Amino acid sequence: MLSGHGTAHNVGEGYHRPVALLPLNPDELLSTTRAVRKRLDFSKPVPDDVVRECVSAAMQSPSGSNMMTMSFVIVRDEAKRKAIGEVYKNCYGMYKSMDGVYIGSIDKGDAAANQQQKRSAESADFLGEHMGDAPVLVIGCTQGARLDGAPAMMSASMLGNILPGMWSFMLAARARGLGTAWTTVHLMMEQQVADILGIPFETVQQVCLSPLAYTKGTDFKPAARPPVDSIIHWDGW
Ligand SMILES: Cc1cc2nc3c(=O)[nH]c(=O)nc-3n(C[C@H](O)[C@H](O)[C@H](O)COP(=O)(O)O)c2cc1C
Repeated sequence: MLSGHGTAHNVGEGYHRPVALLPLNPDELLSTTRAVRKRLDFSKPVPDDVVRECVSAAMQSPSGSNMMTMSFVIVRDEAKRKAIGEVYKNCYGMYKSMDGVYIGSIDKGDAAANQQQKRSAESADFLGEHMGDAPVLVIGCTQGARLDGAPAMMSASMLGNILPGMWSFMLAARARGLGTAWTTVHLMMEQQVADILGIPFETVQQVCLSPLAYTKGTDFKPAARPPVDSIIHWDGW
């Protein structure tokens, strides 16, 4: 439930719309922003102003040369959502046949981790069928020449111009009682989605597709992760 514990201040220009925030401290927000799929409430509309607040939060993230080359394509139109949902479903089918890549085919090495992996796979399978049912789809994009074969400095910069913003969007959504799920499989057929939405394919690259919906309940927990020292390299690799 939204508690009204805090209200969003005006993070962008042109509007002041206090939206009730969940009572989460920063660490709780960071550790409980999960990939939400089965607990998305497809029946509840998402107001445009809530989307604007999340995009405003995203715009506070860093960007190369202080240029705003990130874009968010917000899809509310039902026919377009369904069409994108079909593309996602087809791509997800291809992804599912990729042994060792598909989330459900990866052996994590112990029973508890494999159990968690199985739950994640079932959740991902669900979204494979239902992406188009979310009341809003969000596509994070970055602008510039297409990344295929680009030097590391170019590709890292172009991706870096949307990835922090997209994650900020997701955190802002979670803070407002909405769920998201980072997905990339539709990029196997990126041009089809570009055509549905009129995105200029040669100069605007899609990076992430997420459903956006209020969540059924707001009690999300931190996920089990490997020990923190397993990914830290102090003073060198
Ligand atoms: C780069 C990237 C690509 C992803 N692609 C997909 C995807 O195409 N479909 C999907 O359902 N989830 C996708 N995910 C979400 C992961 O599957 C998810 O993070 C994982 O299930 C763990 O769940 P959690 O984020 O709640 O801890 C992606 C995540 C990342 C970071």
